[in-house]
Amino acid sequence: MRTTITVNGEARSLDLDPRTTLLDALREHLLLTGTKKGCDHGQCGACTVLVNGVRINACLSLAVAHDGDEVTTIEGLGTPEHLHPMQQAFLTHDAYQCGYCTPGQICSAVGMLREVEAGLPSHATRDVRADAVLDGEEIRERMSGNICRCSAYPQIVAAIAAVAEAES
Ligand code: FES
Ligand code: FES
Repeated sequence: MRTTITVNGEARSLDLDPRTTLLDALREHLLLTGTKKGCDHGQCGACTVLVNGVRINACLSLAVAHDGDEVTTIEGLGTPEHLHPMQQAFLTHDAYQCGYCTPGQICSAVGMLREVEAGLPSHATRDVRADAVLDGEEIRERMSGNICRCSAYPQIVAAIAAVAEAES
């Protein structure tokens, strides 16, 4: 099926087997290998990308369902010369070891902060009528879909907290 997806600001037309996941379309067809395949089952978060600004697991979504959508991958968030603030914070706080989960963690964190800004509560939100206080418990709950096998969690939480603080 002919499918056109705007990826990192550029319209990309692909002829796809309709069973192709968005993750495989990005990695195998567009050679954007920054988005990682961890479990391929929606359990690890390594494949997290932003679709129309919302974070999703690219391994659980068929590419043809995203005809006309805007997808942002880790390659589109920033550049080596001009890192996105979340990328810079992960560097500053040493928030990775092997780095395999890191693109998904960063894309997820960017999407998560947008959810907080939009007033969406999480399971850890004590008062769903008030603005969420983005403490460590909130960040850990909201990022619980992103697994880090190296257990860099304290640094990941610190990096996200620093960006949230800078943006508030
Ligand atoms: Fe998609 Fe693990 S590869 S959630
Ligand atoms: Fe290795 Fe997270 S840094 S899995």
